Amino acid sequence: MSTATPNPAWDASELDRAAFLAREARAFAGADAPLIAVRAPGRVNLIGEHTDYSGLPVLPVAIDRSVIIVAARSLSREISVYNSDRSYPHREFALERKIPPYATGDWANYVKAAVQGAIDHFAARGVEVSAMRGARVFVDGRVPPAAGLSSSAALTVSSALAFMAVNGLELPAIDAAAMVARSEWYVGTMAGGMDQAASLLGQRDHALFIEFNPLRAIPVKMPIDAALVVADSGEVADKSGKVRSEYNRRVVECRLAARLLARALKLGDVQILGDVVGLMKNWKASELVTALKGAVPDLLSPDLVQAGALLGVSRDDLARELLDDSRIVLDSRPLEILKRARHVLSETERVFRAVIALEEGRLDEMGRLMNDSHRSLAEDFECSTARLDRMVECARGAGALGARLTGAGFGGSIVALCRSGDVDRVIAALDADYYAPSGIEPARAILHASPGASVIEIAAA
Ligand code: GLA
Repeated sequence: MSTATPNPAWDASELDRAAFLAREARAFAGADAPLIAVRAPGRVNLIGEHTDYSGLPVLPVAIDRSVIIVAARSLSREISVYNSDRSYPHREFALERKIPPYATGDWANYVKAAVQGAIDHFAARGVEVSAMRGARVFVDGRVPPAAGLSSSAALTVSSALAFMAVNGLELPAIDAAAMVARSEWYVGTMAGGMDQAASLLGQRDHALFIEFNPLRAIPVKMPIDAALVVADSGEVADKSGKVRSEYNRRVVECRLAARLLARALKLGDVQILGDVVGLMKNWKASELVTALKGAVPDLLSPDLVQAGALLGVSRDDLARELLDDSRIVLDSRPLEILKRARHVLSETERVFRAVIALEEGRLDEMGRLMNDSHRSLAEDFECSTARLDRMVECARGAGALGARLTGAGFGGSIVALCRSGDVDRVIAALDADYYAPSGIEPARAILHASPGASVIEIAAA
């Protein structure tokens, strides 16, 4: 028998899952071993897609689908990880200053990413890795994988918190969010920090307006009659595969857009579009896009050689500056600059308008903004798919106020904003007009804005 410290952020089923994992943990660690349990939610992004890595704001909610971890401190310096879903094999690795990743696609790379992030963070503050202990870690993930709902961030966040807890290391949630924000770089994705921040800082019944550099999050109350239907297309958006190369390409295109725009506006040292927006506060998105167009009129889809020539640097130097990791290789397809910038800059304006719309309870306006966001993602960011397009059409046709792809796209899920009374109709339409004809098992649910990650202790009773 185990008793968990009460914490209202955990629902009954999450406590049951922790109790189940605790029994497994005790079989290894002994009946009296002190255990900690961590809950970290996934997220659904309402709006502000592909803006975070440009340092521009996002508006996600943490969801009531979580990863639960139970961990026991061990005296060894090994991290041993078990997953309740046995298709994810047991993994064990040693704590060291630089932990080498497993092969691409290995689930436990997200655990390694979290541990590496914590080691780096605390080493820079005088806590050496030699002072840290290993752990036996038991994972139960219920955020649908590869569905654009941040199952990987939930795993990374829960792993980081578990590793810190067994080592008695503490951080305020906002600092932990900043620490894990970059964790996916470890697995070779140049991701922004939205997912981890949402998982750590989420609040019940609230969306989060998140800004970066420095990271801060302001809760925005969800209007009482708003319901979120999230539906998985069944098209796998696996960030360790094709999605990763497309994602990294978008990051590079946005960074290049920032530099070309900075050159056109004589802004000096600029790395990301957020820097440009910060320096040109009074400019509308459309004005910035016009400036970019004027600057590179006949070279809007350059390759790295052409872009380098334009910026006065060699291809190799430019690649080094734009790519975070020498493991990342860009293929030679031309880079889209103008369309990507137009999406990111217009999406940023939509995020600000969305915050006001939610605060004022204007759900129609929020829905319109979500529809515009989807169109921009499909046409300018080119990260939608025929299936996602079909699903948003279907949801809107059945009465959703707005619907869009959520997460990185290239598959994964849509989110539909509905009035509570319309939810059943929207779900029935998705079942009848999307899932049934495509022969896909319906995977849709009403999700609720849930609290961010937390750690509890499980005492032996
Ligand atoms: C993924 C990344 C996030 C964000 C979204 C797109 O979920 O992990 O950082 O960039 O894609 O908005």
